[in-house]
Amino acid sequence: MKTIRAIAEMRESLADARRAGRSIGLVPTMGAFHDGHLSLIRAARAENEVVVVSLFVNPTQFGPDEDLARYPRDEARDSRLAEEAGVDYLFRPSPDAMYPDRFQTWVEVEQLAAGLESEARPGHFRGVATVCLKLFNIVQPHRAYFGQKDAQQASVVRRMVRDLDLPLEMRVLPIIRDADGLALSSRNVYLTAQQRHDALTLPRALRAGLEAWRRGADPIAAACRGLEGLDVDYVSVADLDGPTLAAAVRIGQTRLIDNVRLEEEASAS
Ligand code: PAF
Repeated sequence: MKTIRAIAEMRESLADARRAGRSIGLVPTMGAFHDGHLSLIRAARAENEVVVVSLFVNPTQFGPDEDLARYPRDEARDSRLAEEAGVDYLFRPSPDAMYPDRFQTWVEVEQLAAGLESEARPGHFRGVATVCLKLFNIVQPHRAYFGQKDAQQASVVRRMVRDLDLPLEMRVLPIIRDADGLALSSRNVYLTAQQRHDALTLPRALRAGLEAWRRGADPIAAACRGLEGLDVDYVSVADLDGPTLAAAVRIGQTRLIDNVRLEEEASAS
């Protein structure tokens, strides 16, 4: 595996592969890998001849009061895991390379980026869409891999890909959960043992919402009942490439999100 920091070098490294018509898969990440990331990398490895993983903690998608400074970073471990997973290139640009002096061009996806996460994180999706477009331009992948856990993000990026005619296939892969049901997230490391226990309320409440939806009852009411006592940011059913029951809660200082795709999961189980 080759680790690359410079944008020009990243482009040059892929030029031969592109000329030879080899397929390129990109997994955009902010590092602190867990099995969710590894499932995306494995899929990229299975479906492409060349696999690029970007590791960039994107400052523009964090609000001023968010956890940019303390976001978990373990580059040595991430490099090892990426190499073991068969990644060809680990792209680790610096913030200055990605956002040079006087940077002033942004991508705004309108309706899909409104509501849900944006209520608590204004400007978040502008940062996500912009960095994803930059990564797509640098790597020019045939396929890009995202996790369903960030359901709104996946829909926003998919919309951007369609609206701007980007020549790549969006691959959105299922949420990976711990055995007890908690969705894997780099932010789970912030949780104390008690908080992690409390956090299980979130996937359970979403399951209750799914059950309600299956019976023809109100999934939001059912999920809200399950979340009573927690600090809830939102519980909502939104059309995120299909009806999706999504929720965000705060456990101590940590904000957790999770979702269930109602139609798919109702027919799957
Ligand atoms: O999901 C993430 O890790 C980030 O939002 C992404 C897609 C890498 C953009 O910074």
